[in-house]
Amino acid sequence: MFSILILPLWCLITVVLPLVYARPSSYALWGADSAIARGQGNGLDSSGKPLVSYEHGELQWALRLLYERTGNKTYYDYIKAGVDNVVDSNGNVGGGYSATQFQLDPLRVGPTFLYLYNQTKQAKYKAAADEFRAQLPIHSRTAQGQFWHKKIYPNQGWLDGIYMGDIFYATYTQFFQPDNTTAWDDVISQFDLMHNNTIQTTATPNHTFTGLLYHGYDYSHTTVWADPDRGHSPEIWIRALGWYSMALVDALSIIPTSHPGHKIILSYVHTLFPRIVSAADPTSGVWWLVMTQPGRAGNYFESSGSAMFVYSLLKAVRLGYLSDTDGKIVAAAKKAYQYMVENWVVDHGDGTMDWKNTVQVGSLNTDGSFAYYVGIPTDLNDLKGLAAFVLASIEFEQL
Ligand SMILES: *[C@@H]1O[C@H](CO)[C@@H](O)[C@H](O)[C@H]1NC(C)=O
Ligand SMILES: *[C@@H]1O[C@H](CO)[C@@H](O)[C@H](O)[C@H]1NC(C)=O
Ligand SMILES: *[C@@H]1O[C@H](CO)[C@@H](O)[C@H](O)[C@H]1NC(C)=O
Ligand SMILES: *[C@@H]1O[C@H](CO)[C@@H](O)[C@H](O)[C@H]1NC(C)=O
Ligand SMILES: *[C@@H]1O[C@H](CO)[C@@H](O)[C@H](O)[C@H]1NC(C)=O
Repeated sequence: MFSILILPLWCLITVVLPLVYARPSSYALWGADSAIARGQGNGLDSSGKPLVSYEHGELQWALRLLYERTGNKTYYDYIKAGVDNVVDSNGNVGGGYSATQFQLDPLRVGPTFLYLYNQTKQAKYKAAADEFRAQLPIHSRTAQGQFWHKKIYPNQGWLDGIYMGDIFYATYTQFFQPDNTTAWDDVISQFDLMHNNTIQTTATPNHTFTGLLYHGYDYSHTTVWADPDRGHSPEIWIRALGWYSMALVDALSIIPTSHPGHKIILSYVHTLFPRIVSAADPTSGVWWLVMTQPGRAGNYFESSGSAMFVYSLLKAVRLGYLSDTDGKIVAAAKKAYQYMVENWVVDHGDGTMDWKNTVQVGSLNTDGSFAYYVGIPTDLNDLKGLAAFVLASIEFEQL
């Protein structure tokens, strides 16, 4: 498919050049090319300083898939240049990374280090991955063994951290310690503990029953938002569940099928993904920012989490992790995808596209309330959402 974008007539009259832009032949390419044209996810912050950022790691994962699909080296070169902005020639990681802050977020760039090591065999990329891996043995954990989300959030597990830290842990183990059963057990237990401690088991007067996962939990039950019974946070926040869903499907291609944990991860896909489909808004097909309170005034359809769900659902069906004999799961993903391209993709008019409606942040460094989540602004072209849209499009375009 090749489409060109025709400008409205008044443009033809008032603008001399260019009259017609060639638009990439797919939304995956259009989204990626737009991010690249804006210099997003290139290992630098907005002032040009090196930055280790999970958003960049997310985009790099998508660009790598596009490179595999198209063979277009532009994507590979962009990944490599981005990493070379944060890793020096000896493999030291800069960009503000500090192992002793025990943050899971920066580790999301780790899978890119490993990818580049595999492609180039350059020792510096392995050294960078080793530096991240060395954080794990010193990283604080709950008494059950869950990595704290950060040193500044003692005893707290957030769903986000599984996509950030655990995919790196799994990929590192796959590359260098494939027979390390202790490491595989530990990778699985991160998913498992997060699932068991955050799963919604009942409705309450203000919360619809979804059977999905709350944003996080505090094992010590001491923080302001911790449920007195199980310690979980009060609401199901779309993006946190989006990260966790992507982590489930991505992990299944990394964890050996011979390890018993593979079945555990698969069982979470089997229970959670149909519930994600059930939680979609029946009219639009996409999902609410605060999934526990659909339709409440102030709540809205959020684009990053919706794109993450589409990616996860379609990838799970494509790889046979989830059976879809009646076609309902793919149909739900297609419906959501249609809404996304019609409502959240906007032609910028210069050959690039804009991506709308991604909430800037959702932190449990707050009271975790409905009012908190809905009070955070949305951003245009937020990379967390745009990269997820590229991932969703890569899956959609393989249907
Ligand atoms: C590769 O991608 C870049 C960036 O999107 C584009 O400008 C270029 O035309 C593409 N090359 C080929 C051979 O398709
Ligand atoms: C490493 O690269 C080779 C060649 O491209 C590929 O076949 C292999 O799957 C890669 N290994 C991993 C663990 O990604
Ligand atoms: C195996 O993994 C565990 C847990 O991450 C780690 O403590 C241990 O050093 C690893 N063993 C080897 C031989 O790398
Ligand atoms: C999680 O819950 C399941 C089902 O109740 C149980 O089999 C499993 O041992 C639990 N995992 C952890 C790490 O507590
Ligand atoms: C519960 O929901 C009602 C109606 O939507 C609302 O007025 C009230 O403030 C909610 N309570 C809490 C604690 O969120």
